[in-house]
Amino acid sequence: MQLLDGKQLSLTLQNEIGLEVKEAIALGRKRPHLAAVLVGNNPASETYVNSKIKACENIGFRSTLLQFTDQVSQQELVVAVQQLNDNEDIDGILVQLPLPSHIDEEKVTEAISPAKDVDGFHPVNIGRMVKGLASFLPATPYGIIMLLERYKIATEGKHCVVIGRSNIVGTPVSILLSRNTYPGNCTVTLTHSKTKHLKDICLQADIIIAAIGKPDFVKAEWIREGAVVIDVGINRVVDASKKSGYRLKGDVDFENVSPKCSFITPVPGGVGPLTIAALMKNTMTASKSRYS
Ligand code: GUN
Repeated sequence: MQLLDGKQLSLTLQNEIGLEVKEAIALGRKRPHLAAVLVGNNPASETYVNSKIKACENIGFRSTLLQFTDQVSQQELVVAVQQLNDNEDIDGILVQLPLPSHIDEEKVTEAISPAKDVDGFHPVNIGRMVKGLASFLPATPYGIIMLLERYKIATEGKHCVVIGRSNIVGTPVSILLSRNTYPGNCTVTLTHSKTKHLKDICLQADIIIAAIGKPDFVKAEWIREGAVVIDVGINRVVDASKKSGYRLKGDVDFENVSPKCSFITPVPGGVGPLTIAALMKNTMTASKSRYS
């Protein structure tokens, strides 16, 4: 069994982007600039946004953080996004999800200019992705693609079982892995909460991508010997021995599943850090598009 070290790969990717920034500045180009919008005080969202801002600093991007209380109106958020669209210096915009229930996330997402939508959540980018056209890929699926690519994991003709059909992970990764590309050319089965015989389906998988949001959901008895397991889960479980009072657990029962795998991602240190690197890649791409 080999660990897929997302933390290390994320650092490598961020170093590569950092070099690109240095080269761009040496050519007299503008420093890439990411704007993040954070609403309310959801602790997980605060952590994610802080990590994104810190990654910008490490790479040499400018960053702007706009914070709003959870009382903010939808209209105020849409106006803030439109101002970021109109701001010539800003290359990429992300609105951290989830938003409070009185706000329609779709309306806010659709207010972002597709050219600055570095999260790849705008319907224009999703539509372009589905058609195989150039687009910003959503960060988590893009991170998984880079992980498979950098570890040279064979995907052609493999049976990939995706667990979870969210717009952010399960649905886009199933589309990306079924395309005629590398990584890709998989036969993909997209499973979800209503799927019957999930264990039997997983037992036929060469690659499993677990994105269901339930700790230890995927069991050792579901795994074929030699399978590749990508665990997208970042579940907070109570742990009184930790200062924070919780620890992170994936969607996969790592302890019992890992001995059966050829490759597996740990949690933490697997897919999570790659989502940050993917967002930075998209922001670099957005910035470079000014000059092409
Ligand atoms: N919430 C969960 N994942 C993401 C993500 O990739 N981007 C944003 N903006 N919000 C999220």
